[in-house]
Amino acid sequence: MLGLDEELINKIFMTSPMHDIGKIGIPDHILLKPGGLTADEWEIMKEHTSMGAKILGISKSPYLKTGAEIALNHHERWDGEGYPHGKRGKDIPLAARIVNICDIYDALRSKRPYKPAIDHPRTMEIITCGNSRNQPEQFDPVIFTLFRQNHQSFRDIFAAYLV
Ligand SMILES: [Fe+2]
Repeated sequence: MLGLDEELINKIFMTSPMHDIGKIGIPDHILLKPGGLTADEWEIMKEHTSMGAKILGISKSPYLKTGAEIALNHHERWDGEGYPHGKRGKDIPLAARIVNICDIYDALRSKRPYKPAIDHPRTMEIITCGNSRNQPEQFDPVIFTLFRQNHQSFRDIFAAYLV
């Protein structure tokens, strides 16, 4: 949809499933906690981004370099309110800006220890109108527009891989 070259598309396709690999370094009592996290626990949780980048960044593979970039930046926000570095706009690598909105869609649709799964229409409402955790300003506006225009594809892909 963005007209990216095939190589970058492949890199994102191959490495985006590893975006949260740094979570292997987060203690289970934080990772699996049913309720909200304390401020200290949240600071530890945020480290999954830099830990993932460290794990993937060791490799010389250009694929895993993109994977490391995605792992480090997938919680950064266009409005600068993300983590771990509070990067803003195009300072956030494009691959990570793409994975960010996909990750949020997937997180909302999926059951988590602290929340039930949410259906597609309600998920679209949250992403487009915002809630306590998400605001539309956090997304790259071009990617956000394409996401809204093609939201049925996201619904269909999610349904196809639902286990
Ligand atoms: Fe993450």
